[in-house]
Amino acid sequence: MNIYKKMIKCALESQKKAYTPYSNFNVGASVLTDSGKIYGGCNIENASYTPTVCAERVAIFKAIYDGEKKITKIAVVGKENSLTYPCGVCRQVMREFCTDDCEIIIIRNEQEYKIIKFSEILPYSFGPKDL
Ligand code: THU
Repeated sequence: MNIYKKMIKCALESQKKAYTPYSNFNVGASVLTDSGKIYGGCNIENASYTPTVCAERVAIFKAIYDGEKKITKIAVVGKENSLTYPCGVCRQVMREFCTDDCEIIIIRNEQEYKIIKFSEILPYSFGPKDL
């Protein structure tokens, strides 16, 4: 199975774990690290709304907690047959850990996906090297 298929499978499996009693909008994500590991994440909502964490950040933080340093690809899936793009907060978190050439895989369904570069979705950004 190629790496894109593996990441899509992980994101779709992760989506099933979403805790979304408020929005009922289930998101799944997966990240690939520079050491070749894949971590999944789902969105986890909260009765107080703002503490909600997106699927992408859950996957990224799991990887970082596990000692991973850099993320080379991120896959995201939301509503089936439409494209769900990462929110602004997740883009800034990605900026911290993504490689310069990091790819974002936006999943439409198990077979169809679109690949964009991370640099396209957060141009003129503020990152670790700016401090
Ligand atoms: N959400 C994500 O998990 N990732 C995104 O890229 C977009 C939004 C979640 C947050 C919230 O639980 C639900 O989707 C509706 O906004």
